Amino acid sequence: MTSPTRAPQPAPPSSSRVTVEVHGLTKSFLEEGRGEVRAVDGIDFTCREGEVFGLLGANGAGKTTTLRMLSTVLRPTAGQARVLGYDVEASGEDVRRSLGFHSASTALYPRLTARETLDFFARVNRLDPARVPERVDQLVERFGIGEYADARVEKLSSGMKQKVAIARTLAHDPPVLIFDEPTVGLDVLNAMSLLEVVEELRAEGRTVIYSSHIMSEAERLCDRIAVLHRGRILALGSLEELREATGLHYLQDIFVHYVKTAEG
Ligand SMILES: Nc1ncnc2c1ncn2[C@@H]1O[C@H](COP(=O)(O)OP(=O)(O)O)[C@@H](O)[C@H]1O
Ligand SMILES: [Mg+2]
Repeated sequence: MTSPTRAPQPAPPSSSRVTVEVHGLTKSFLEEGRGEVRAVDGIDFTCREGEVFGLLGANGAGKTTTLRMLSTVLRPTAGQARVLGYDVEASGEDVRRSLGFHSASTALYPRLTARETLDFFARVNRLDPARVPERVDQLVERFGIGEYADARVEKLSSGMKQKVAIARTLAHDPPVLIFDEPTVGLDVLNAMSLLEVVEELRAEGRTVIYSSHIMSEAERLCDRIAVLHRGRILALGSLEELREATGLHYLQDIFVHYVKTAEG
């Protein structure tokens, strides 16, 4: 069901290294009453270092399923995904070492301190043990956790918990970061500070894959946006390219245009 107005799929800036490659990625689930559901239905995309790549889609579009396959939590039904050249099925451990996954529900262990949390996740995700203490100090400094670093996480305010949760995602210094609807449930200030962190990560040359259903976030953050609907990418391009392809200005209108065209 490819729409005639499908946006072009331009190559990202070719000066930077490809970090994530997804080809024909598919995931089917068997659901009671519904039979086989293709949550992700043969998607293709490529991301480069220094890029925020947006997966924009409504609830149920297939964002989390895609990101779980990339992070090796779910096995693809078909297709391939590679992170830094490592295949998610053949080289799961290398993939997990190469990426960090953050969502609004990223859990922390309430009884660990912030410092213990960072130490733990750095080691679990295979940062060179010799680098761990220095890395933990760096993150404590960067996120202003110092004053609270030795308090149990359960005692922290929601804003501080969020900082620890993001720092935990970065603990092993991964070049690729996945943020799955990270601002869901956050107040405005915490949401803003999260978007700022994402912008810093891009400036450091990392790749960020950012899923959202919030148009303003995608407009502000994403270098390229994939419109995901019923497991398919309906359009992929920079905001400018999507505007040119549709003749529409606001991302919300662009999004609705592609979804309505796909629905016929
Ligand atoms: N573990 C699962 N078992 C069965 N169906 C699932 C499972 N996970 C997701 N789905 C279905 O896959 C589709 C996509 O879900 P999801 O990837 O969570 O979407 P999103 O993150 O964009 O809201 C939905 O129809 C959802 O019900
Ligand atoms: Mg989701």
